Amino acid sequence: MKQLQSEPTAIREIFPSILYYGTPVILLSTRNADGTTNLTPLSSSWALGKMVVLGVSTIGQALENMQRHPECVINVPAPTQWEQVERLAPTTGRFPVPAQRAAMGFRHEPDKFATAGFTPQAASAVQVERIRECPLQIEARVEQINLREDGFAIVETTALHVYAHDQIMLEQGAQVSDRYVDPLKWSPLIYNFRHYFGLGERVGKTFRAET
Ligand SMILES: Cc1cc2nc3c(=O)[nH]c(=O)nc-3n(C[C@H](O)[C@H](O)[C@H](O)COP(=O)(O)O)c2cc1C
Repeated sequence: MKQLQSEPTAIREIFPSILYYGTPVILLSTRNADGTTNLTPLSSSWALGKMVVLGVSTIGQALENMQRHPECVINVPAPTQWEQVERLAPTTGRFPVPAQRAAMGFRHEPDKFATAGFTPQAASAVQVERIRECPLQIEARVEQINLREDGFAIVETTALHVYAHDQIMLEQGAQVSDRYVDPLKWSPLIYNFRHYFGLGERVGKTFRAET
């Protein structure tokens, strides 16, 4: 990446067509009416304590599913999995496809696992399948859905169980930690103004870092 200078050459007001300034991609598992699992790529999420908040379009299948069945899994893919994420990008679990989405080239896809080439993994506490290949898998309960008037909903969830691949966890002697993800081994897939990135080099750590 080109090194950005802290002293700007000039500052102007801009009118960006999107404001996706670089957040991790998640693949949200939700339960379809027939009991199968739908997968939805999202970049609007954040975690605080055990809460994970999601920003979800009201036009998609994910929201309808969570309104009917208040459980989900937040699967977090790695940068190497971007092409599998992108295979899901033009699909929706909605049938028929809403006209607005059809006009944008979206198609109905009932089997998102097959589309992306992922393996369903039975969850321990929710009736929604996890994605086996995603290094982080968070089973969660949907607590509250705040429907906004701009076509989006803010969905508050509580993490119930977190699963991780051993490969991203800190090694403590011969033991694999079940508390610390190793930030030198793990990178989320970042959605940066609609382009996919991994993380670059570590630039530092906070005074509260425990590893
Ligand atoms: C990388 C990526 C990030 C996305 N982020 C969001 C998001 O944060 N919120 C949202 O509602 N849609 C987001 N989308 C669009 C949805 O994935 C898309 O509308 C999809 O068709 C919804 O699927 P569903 O109708 O089966 O739930 C994103 C798509 C991609 C590819």
